[in-house]
Amino acid sequence: MMPLLASALAVLQQPQSAPPYDPLGMFPPNASHNAGTSDWVFYFIFWTCLVVLIGVCVATLWFAFRYRRSKVGLIPQDSPHHSTTLEIVWSVVPTFFLVAMFWYGFKDYEDRREIPNDAYEIHVNAAKWSWTFTYPNGYQSQHLTVPADRNVRLRLSSPDVLHSVFIPAFRVKLDVVPGRYNWLWFRAIEPGVFPLYCTEYCGQQHSQMDARVTVMPDAEFDAWLAKESDWGALPPEVAGLKTYGANGCVACHTLDGSAATGPTFGGMFGTQKQLADGSTVTYDENYIRESILTPNVKLAAGFAPNLMPSNFAQALSDQKVDWLIALIKSKGAQ
Ligand code: CUA
Repeated sequence: MMPLLASALAVLQQPQSAPPYDPLGMFPPNASHNAGTSDWVFYFIFWTCLVVLIGVCVATLWFAFRYRRSKVGLIPQDSPHHSTTLEIVWSVVPTFFLVAMFWYGFKDYEDRREIPNDAYEIHVNAAKWSWTFTYPNGYQSQHLTVPADRNVRLRLSSPDVLHSVFIPAFRVKLDVVPGRYNWLWFRAIEPGVFPLYCTEYCGQQHSQMDARVTVMPDAEFDAWLAKESDWGALPPEVAGLKTYGANGCVACHTLDGSAATGPTFGGMFGTQKQLADGSTVTYDENYIRESILTPNVKLAAGFAPNLMPSNFAQALSDQKVDWLIALIKSKGAQ
């Protein structure tokens, strides 16, 4: 009971962060500024419900035993007269706990909805079935890297269906809704690597729509971003491989010749490609470019239309398309 009381006092004094409290070991690592608060609210509700559940069960069993038929017989007896004291007690005491649940939950919700103005913004695009994280300088990655001890705001968008971003270690979860932006924020407290999931069923590969969240020391973050962003210094096919990963091509296209959700990039360059309408086309630079920017115009045989998101014309610069072409070329022809 003492740790519970200590946590209660900590929450009252400082609503935005409570010390870690997980006596039953139910939670993933506690890695953001308000993870402790949400854990504490959970346990407050859990313990309260457990005590009430035990009380109700014990009373039920006791009454069933105390007033069993062999004892009271089959002739109905008058019920005891109502007790005002008892009614007040069982109304007022639960009210106190319910108001406390609302209050702690609301304080935490308020903190989560009030995004600090100084927060570092990263744009999160959730598309069937991969994540793209875009940093303020335009750098894109399929995995999220954030600085520790800095307020980070994620701006969420989706070009296709409803997704939902969930980072258990940060205790944050929010829907990614097509046609509008949503925001969530957190402040990671320690360096480490944590999972990020899509937690809204979004089709065939929903279960594989996950990513890594790396928290690095604040002092190293800016240098890391500058280094990672400088793809121009790389050989074009290497920059192409990075684009392939960062922009989500990897979710549907393999490089080794095997079919997946979309046609493979491996061993294709220079070949004659069969199209869905029965014609063939030479798999060259122009075909690759056209297929990236307007994927439904020359649909590959064996693949359904509209499977590929059509937003790559906006998402990929000319340079990135060139890098992808260099990557596909480097994977050779059969
Ligand atoms: Cu995206 Cu499930």
